[in-house]
Amino acid sequence: MNKILIAYFSRADENYVDGQLKYLEKGNTQVVAEKIQSLTGGELFKIEAEKSYAKDYTTCVEQAHQDQVANVFPKLKQTLKDISQYDEIYLGYPNYWSTMPMAVFTFLTSMDTSGKLIHPFCTHEGSGFGQSLKDLEKLCPQARITSGLSLYGSKVAQSEKDIEQWVQSKGE
Ligand SMILES: Cc1cc2nc3c(=O)[nH]c(=O)nc-3n(C[C@H](O)[C@H](O)[C@H](O)COP(=O)(O)O)c2cc1C
Repeated sequence: MNKILIAYFSRADENYVDGQLKYLEKGNTQVVAEKIQSLTGGELFKIEAEKSYAKDYTTCVEQAHQDQVANVFPKLKQTLKDISQYDEIYLGYPNYWSTMPMAVFTFLTSMDTSGKLIHPFCTHEGSGFGQSLKDLEKLCPQARITSGLSLYGSKVAQSEKDIEQWVQSKGE
């Protein structure tokens, strides 16, 4: 049986939900990651920058933008010990300014993904994957990237069926 990793970035705290600012106990992408974990029995790994973004939404949006413009690869809080034991990676992230948060760039460049099967999933508020899949292909040229799942962050709680179908299809 394939060994599965579910690596994801997600931020709780203040976010836009259905046009309103709200405090979330758990980030949207984390909700999806945990659902995938319960369906696959894979191992969860949270991608976190050493220095997290602000709790308030507006500052966070600005910080994330600055990191992208300056092409900052932030140091991660924890590193994954051994990628070689996993065959399949579910990779989850929120759409940040049309691509992945820079901490996900750090994560992907810190290890060898050649030969891995990567199933990308993303939460967003309207832009879907944006250009993140192109960026992912560039960062992981030797991996096989299957067709991903993008979900509205504000609708993740009602997206169980979509997640189940996608996991069953293995992104094929
Ligand atoms: C810094 C930042 C940038 C964002 N940029 C976009 C964007 O360009 N397009 C979009 O559709 N949603 C954007 N969003 C909305 C998030 O992708 C969405 O709320 C997501 O579900 C958050 O996931 P999380 O709760 O797991 O962190 C942005 C949110 C933040 C905080």
